[in-house]
Amino acid sequence: MKLVAATFAALLVASVAQAAEAPAGALACSGCHPGSAGVETNAVRLIGLKAEDIKAAMVAFRTGARPETVMDRIAKGFSEAEVGAIADWYATQH
Ligand code: HEC
Repeated sequence: MKLVAATFAALLVASVAQAAEAPAGALACSGCHPGSAGVETNAVRLIGLKAEDIKAAMVAFRTGARPETVMDRIAKGFSEAEVGAIADWYATQH
């Protein structure tokens, strides 16, 4: 029982530490665009892109300059500052 509690506590600490690293908005992206290169995905990878490219794509999605399946709607839900923080975070992940 003690071991179970210790394991649970360790997991809790690990998940809190991870959440603190990523800006809040990134949790709305990482389900489709994983924040780690080790995660298998069929979605477009943001890891490896420059922050500038992510920001530019989000503007193009929001304005409709780049028509997409889902990103146009998602991009409308985030401010420029939020996108900036998310883009900077993805650009530093590997
Ligand atoms: C429901 C799944 C989903 C979520 C959630 C999501 N995306 Fe996307 N994203 C996609 C898909 C699918 C594409 C490919 C373009 C398309 O078909 O819409 C894409 C494309 C992109 C691209 C273009 C990448 C490139 O190489 O051109 C960027 C940048 C991007 N998303 C950023 C984000 C950010 C930032 C968030 C969070 C605010 C986010 N996405 C949330 C599904 C998602």
